[in-house]
Amino acid sequence: MRSIAVSISKGGVEKTTTAVHLAAGLAAKGQRVLLVDTDTQGQASAMLGIKPDVGLAEFVSGDATFEDAATEAREGLSILAGGRSLAALKRVISRQEYGGERVLDESLSKVDAGFDYIILDTSPGWDALTVNVLFYAREILAPVSTEVLTLDSLIEFTKSIEAIQKYNTDLELNYVLPTFLDGRVKKSGEILAQLRKHFGKGVVLSPVRYNVRLSEAPGYGQTIYEYAPNSTGAVDYKALIERINKNGRA
Ligand SMILES: Nc1ncnc2c1ncn2[C@@H]1O[C@H](COP(=O)(O)OP(=O)(O)O)[C@@H](O)[C@H]1O
Ligand SMILES: [Mg+2]
Repeated sequence: MRSIAVSISKGGVEKTTTAVHLAAGLAAKGQRVLLVDTDTQGQASAMLGIKPDVGLAEFVSGDATFEDAATEAREGLSILAGGRSLAALKRVISRQEYGGERVLDESLSKVDAGFDYIILDTSPGWDALTVNVLFYAREILAPVSTEVLTLDSLIEFTKSIEAIQKYNTDLELNYVLPTFLDGRVKKSGEILAQLRKHFGKGVVLSPVRYNVRLSEAPGYGQTIYEYAPNSTGAVDYKALIERINKNGRA
């Protein structure tokens, strides 16, 4: 089982799009995937065209069993939906005097053996649930927009990861995914080069290009594979799936 957190403390960099397409693409390859949405916005399920009324909050708090809390979004793809109910869960976690960082880990560890991949979407910023995600996951995939230079925030984020690695020694920033790549914009290529120089080619994945289809698909509750299978967005995400699936960590 692999657990991959799609995370970085910045919003609007393609985190949710990546988490959803990573999860859906791996499921389409026959992997058993659980997508865990830890954002109060609950965008991940909306992108998949579903509106579950239970999800992660109910599962972790014990109000629902895993079977009741998880929704089958596509064949082989289950989701523990996020949304507003997570706000209450965050308060419960913050109020714990001891062990609040491991609340998610304790819950997911009971069910994760039934999956090949656990993909976790995180909220922008650095909240109690994101810390919980990083105490649980082993791999981090950080999407970085090539539209604006976010190298500073990425370096800041790597420092936060280092702090957590003291407790979760399995955690690693395995992948940096350049997003919104626009070949017509010179800055886009410069930022990509900077990322490769700083993190090395092994960590920096092939970019996802700017593709308007990717921003349209959620409006139809469809993945890019369903909405526009021949678009550059679909091509780029399929390449990502190949790479992640190949680079297996147990
Ligand atoms: N490669 C892309 N090209 C064009 N639009 C994109 C692309 N990736 C994501 N988007 C759109 O950009 C917005 C932000 O993406 P999202 O995945 O929600 O970011 P985050 O989760 O980091 O806040 C969404 O409206 C999404 O549909
Ligand atoms: Mg998001």
